[in-house]
Amino acid sequence: MKIKSICCIGAGYVGGPTMAVIAQKCPNVKVTVVDINEARIAAWNNEDLSKLPVYEPGLDAIVKDARGRNLFFSTNVDAAIDEADTIFISVNTPTKTYGKGKGMAADLKYIELCARQIARVAKEDKIVVEKSTLPVRTASAIKSILDNTGNGVQFQILSNPEFLAEGTAIEDLLKPDRVLIGGEMTAEGEKAMQALVDLYASWVNRDHILTTNVWSSELSKLTANAFLAQRVSSINAMSEICEKTGANVAEVSKAIGMDSRIGPKFLSSSVGFGGSCFQKDILNLVYIAKSYGLDEVANYWEQVVLMNNHQKNRFSDNIINTLYNTVSGKKITFLGWAFKKDTNDTRESAAITVADNLLNEHAKITVYDPKVSEEQIFSDLEYLNSRDPKQNRALLKVEKDPYLAMKDAHAIAILTEWDEFKAYNWQKIYDHMLKPAFIFDGRRLLDHEMLKSIGFECYEIGTGNASQ
Ligand code: NAD
Ligand code: UDX
Repeated sequence: MKIKSICCIGAGYVGGPTMAVIAQKCPNVKVTVVDINEARIAAWNNEDLSKLPVYEPGLDAIVKDARGRNLFFSTNVDAAIDEADTIFISVNTPTKTYGKGKGMAADLKYIELCARQIARVAKEDKIVVEKSTLPVRTASAIKSILDNTGNGVQFQILSNPEFLAEGTAIEDLLKPDRVLIGGEMTAEGEKAMQALVDLYASWVNRDHILTTNVWSSELSKLTANAFLAQRVSSINAMSEICEKTGANVAEVSKAIGMDSRIGPKFLSSSVGFGGSCFQKDILNLVYIAKSYGLDEVANYWEQVVLMNNHQKNRFSDNIINTLYNTVSGKKITFLGWAFKKDTNDTRESAAITVADNLLNEHAKITVYDPKVSEEQIFSDLEYLNSRDPKQNRALLKVEKDPYLAMKDAHAIAILTEWDEFKAYNWQKIYDHMLKPAFIFDGRRLLDHEMLKSIGFECYEIGTGNASQ
């Protein structure tokens, strides 16, 4: 069988870019991305490519190439399901905020709604692909819904987790380290897997396309994110020891990264990992382990999240301690709000926790981020429910000009590693700040020798002061 028509349910950070690349690489396959969020679909259809709902380097050019040719964005979910031979489910699977598993388990209500809608609409056999990150064994729940409420239609469920990282999504999709496809080990399952392998083989070397059983595929995704996040928490744990002992975490990272068994990637100490995946997926893993009674396994992985919380909190604590134990009424400028550079995504960004901690101490925060909107920043704070929205707006300002943002500040905190911060005129910034002028670099981004020679008081995550 050959895939000719795809429907992707969910036009978010994964669905949008992933389907744009499939459409570009497979011009003979019709790809329709659907969503219930009308504003999001309208933004994907915007003539002005700078207004796409997801900012990713290179995405605009691909959308320009394929949109209207074989790539379509629509709110008509039923029609797209009906027409497609293959349906990708790429909806959000956030941490549950209610009931059993609250704060830990993945909330699968959106997945279930999709399965029920597919069951209701489908009149012909279809392949259903789990693109969302799901707890191991979810495919059996989807299959049970499809088999029991469908109209005699045969469904093959495949797991095809996505490994793209935001900010490099297009690069990752064009040249993935691997594509993982899990399916049922039956003749029908093999046929469905082969069809998806052939689709990816349009641009990915077949040696990089792995097929496994469904459960291995589902669990591999959670495992990959747990391992990656664990590296960040491990190096962040070392950063605190570095600060106490006079060691330098960049030197430690380099020294251990040259061991080919450890490798150099993902060893940058930071104010803490953010993003929509790491915390959610580890908590989900912890929940799964607990539900099988594997308490030691659960505790082991939970520590990665606890360490990350500690890293965010100790960054804000350090700002407060350094500013003479009070930040009340002091202007602190945040450079960056996104959870990493080159994305407008702010989900679980360390900046949110750091801001919340400082606002609790009545600091006056001004935020500058090149890609994040004011509306998003306030919505992130309001979601925490720490204070009423009016108070958030009284204490926090968003500024579009970075130099104005830093004028008259007591301190600057670097929360995101945007390249443009390195190119600023730091002498000019120093001249317009209150003295002593403090910089807290949560990303080890700036040249601290240069900053100190200008007169800044610098704190850098993971750099120890040997004289302490
Ligand atoms: P997202 O929130 O950006 O997008 C999900 C979209 O699905 C939303 O626009 C929402 O309106 C839509 N949706 C929800 N229910 C729907 C329904 N019943 N019908 C139609 N549309 C519906 O989420 P995302 O970041 O794209 O993540 C999607 C999945 O991919 C998650 O499981 C996530 O864990 C996984 N993932 C994300 C990343 C990442 O970098 N963001 C990477 C790998 C995997
Ligand atoms: C992650 C996984 O990398 C990706 O494979 C998966 O599909 C989704 O989750 P993402 O969250 O988009 O991707 O970005 P990633 O580059 O992994 O960064 C996550 C967080 O860790 C960011 O806040 C980043 O700044 C931080 N990080 C990353 C560090 O602090 N240090 C590092 O060395 C690497």
